[in-house]
Amino acid sequence: MTQVIRTSAELRARVAAWKRSGMLVGVVPTMGALHDGHLSLVAEARKQSDRVIVTIFVNPMQFNNPSDLEKYPRDEGHDLALLEAAGVDVLFAPGVDEVYPEGFSTKITVSGVSEPLEGAFRPGHFEGVATVVAKLFGMTQAGRAFFGEKDWQQLQVVRRLVTDLNIPVRVIGCPTIREADGLAMSSRNVRLSPEDRAIAPALPAAMERAAAAMRAGTPVAEALETARAEIAAAGLGPIEYLDLRHAESLAPASDLNAPARMLAAVWLGDVRLIDNIAV
Ligand code: PAF
Repeated sequence: MTQVIRTSAELRARVAAWKRSGMLVGVVPTMGALHDGHLSLVAEARKQSDRVIVTIFVNPMQFNNPSDLEKYPRDEGHDLALLEAAGVDVLFAPGVDEVYPEGFSTKITVSGVSEPLEGAFRPGHFEGVATVVAKLFGMTQAGRAFFGEKDWQQLQVVRRLVTDLNIPVRVIGCPTIREADGLAMSSRNVRLSPEDRAIAPALPAAMERAAAAMRAGTPVAEALETARAEIAAAGLGPIEYLDLRHAESLAPASDLNAPARMLAAVWLGDVRLIDNIAV
């Protein structure tokens, strides 16, 4: 039975009782609209922790676009049923006033890693993410936190945050879960029209081809240019970025001499797809 908790005071009491019995607590922070990608994080959290909390909070501070916030899919009843079936102990679903009470005035800026890519196209997004994640760590007091590699840059920002602020949580990145045709699972995919859904897998397919070309010796810039042309030819766009970066710092990478990641953000209709792969 998954217990639904809405206040941090109640959550703190529940977690304190677990910790008194020596239990290791894992948290999976989410914004709801759960899919198999989230459930894979829950499964990993269950393997690596004695008790699992899933948080659902659609964080207004990380939406730079008010209509994206408004359109963000929400279905707590359905999410709760999935969490029950997955054996989650607590769903922590606070309201906006619980997270940002009257007078709230703190924002956390993680410089460097949060500046390019998503940071450049979504001003303020990572301040919102870093602030709410730090709050969720404080509220849940979890020892382990599970994040999807689908949001690769977010994962690097959270790792930096935890290191810089000495937050006592171990951050665990889990692989992206994909549909059978290669499209990365995302809560926003439900907003794709059937026509757009059919062409969306062209994005990961072009990225995989570019990665294979780079590994085979094609210059990085040339492989990226071919991928951009293929993505546009498939009917996706505009492309906000498709780039090769150093996997951790996200500084530009022009060769494969150090661990590299290819990252993309591409519009399809009014849905913004993001994806990334190791190269
Ligand atoms: O990845 C998400 O769903 C969100 O950015 C997170 C980490 C739950 C913070 O709101």
